[in-house]
Amino acid sequence: MSASSQSAPSETVVAAAEVPSKMKAWVYDEYGDADVLRLDEGMETLLSISPSSSSALLKLPSILFPPNRRRACALIWNSCRPLLTSSLRMAASSQSAPSETIVAGVPSTMKAWVYDEYGDADVLRLDEGVSVPGIKEDQVLVKVVAAALNPVDFKRRQGKFKATDSPLPTIPGYDVAGIVVKVGSQVKNLKEGDEVYGDINEKALDKPKQFGSLAEYTAVEEKLLAIKPKTLDFPLAAGLPLAIETAYEGLEKAGFSAGKSLLVLGGAGGVGSLVIQLAKHVYGASRIAATSSTGKLELLKSLGADLAIDYTKENFEELPEKFDVVYDAVGQGERANKAVKEGGVVVVLTGPVSPPGFRFVVTSDGAVLVKLNPYLECGKIKALNDPKAMAESC
Ligand SMILES: NC(=O)c1ccc[n+]([C@@H]2O[C@H](COP(=O)([O-])OP(=O)(O)OC[C@H]3O[C@@H](n4cnc5c(N)ncnc54)[C@H](OP(=O)(O)O)[C@@H]3O)[C@@H](O)[C@H]2O)c1
Repeated sequence: MSASSQSAPSETVVAAAEVPSKMKAWVYDEYGDADVLRLDEGMETLLSISPSSSSALLKLPSILFPPNRRRACALIWNSCRPLLTSSLRMAASSQSAPSETIVAGVPSTMKAWVYDEYGDADVLRLDEGVSVPGIKEDQVLVKVVAAALNPVDFKRRQGKFKATDSPLPTIPGYDVAGIVVKVGSQVKNLKEGDEVYGDINEKALDKPKQFGSLAEYTAVEEKLLAIKPKTLDFPLAAGLPLAIETAYEGLEKAGFSAGKSLLVLGGAGGVGSLVIQLAKHVYGASRIAATSSTGKLELLKSLGADLAIDYTKENFEELPEKFDVVYDAVGQGERANKAVKEGGVVVVLTGPVSPPGFRFVVTSDGAVLVKLNPYLECGKIKALNDPKAMAESC
């Protein structure tokens, strides 16, 4: 401890080594309703305490200093009005304030969903004492507001990618939307307070991060993130990255371009629904057909499909019409090859593949999100979340 303030009164000024000179604090400069509150990111850290007591001397402007962490979380998260994933909703109602660095705003431990062995969903447990991950020079620490799960998460949990996985225990979750709370020394564009989203694993199957997004905090390379579209709330944004980047990369790899025709297998799914929209609004497809179950045929049309095929009643490969590109998000590679034109291409995400089909594994890239953000912000491309699958509001 050392005395660092020039204006120190008669009390001892505490400036422990881990206490930074500046801090974030909720502040009001005048009395009034809740909207007088503002988050000040450059408050001087000056906790002057009497040697004989643990009370803090609070100087003007008055700091609304949370009496415990539960209140702090509620304040910050309510300011974003997020719908939280269940783990985070539980975090928001946590009663305890363990050994955390409250001044810096980032605790040393957090809550996270974890599994210690591969298996079914019941291997998942909520761990309340996970260390908040450190960041590398090119990374930022994101305070998670919403996280999303993809099929790769459950396949990984089942041990299907064991050979190339990072070591157990694992915090699952590729997709995240949240707020930057710390930046590494080589980070160029992002700063604290930025609202971001992205897929935190550059290579989906090659050593995906041990500490995923189903946690209160996650560490991510800057290049994998983009500023969240203003028109999307956090849960809608969190549902997008892996799916839209897969949709885009597949169309790029297939050489899709204006005037070409497309058949999407699994058009109502996370990836398929975005393939339809990208093909229509970004690439200028001449014609789009897509398959789904009966109840989702109207959805396919609303997304931009000219022909909606009910896979429970029709075999798409028996249609007389053939397509320049078939995008298979179901695992029907052999049948897909029968629906493509001579010289055409079949993109296969899962299951068996043979020429002219090819399979690829998505690479996360924040630049793709940056490129597509204008389409998301103006509503040409819509993020779809199933309301039944959403956690209730905080
Ligand atoms: N290679 C990669 O890099 C990569 C990246 C992302 C995803 N994937 C894989 O791609 C697949 C799709 O991912 P996703 O995120 O889009 O999954 P998802 O959101 O769970 O969507 C699955 C969709 O498949 C549809 N479906 C099921 N059987 C079908 C059939 N016979 N014909 C047509 N549609 C059918 C369902 O439609 P209904 O509800 O109408 O039945 C559902 O909408 C998964 O296997 C995933 O692992 C691979």
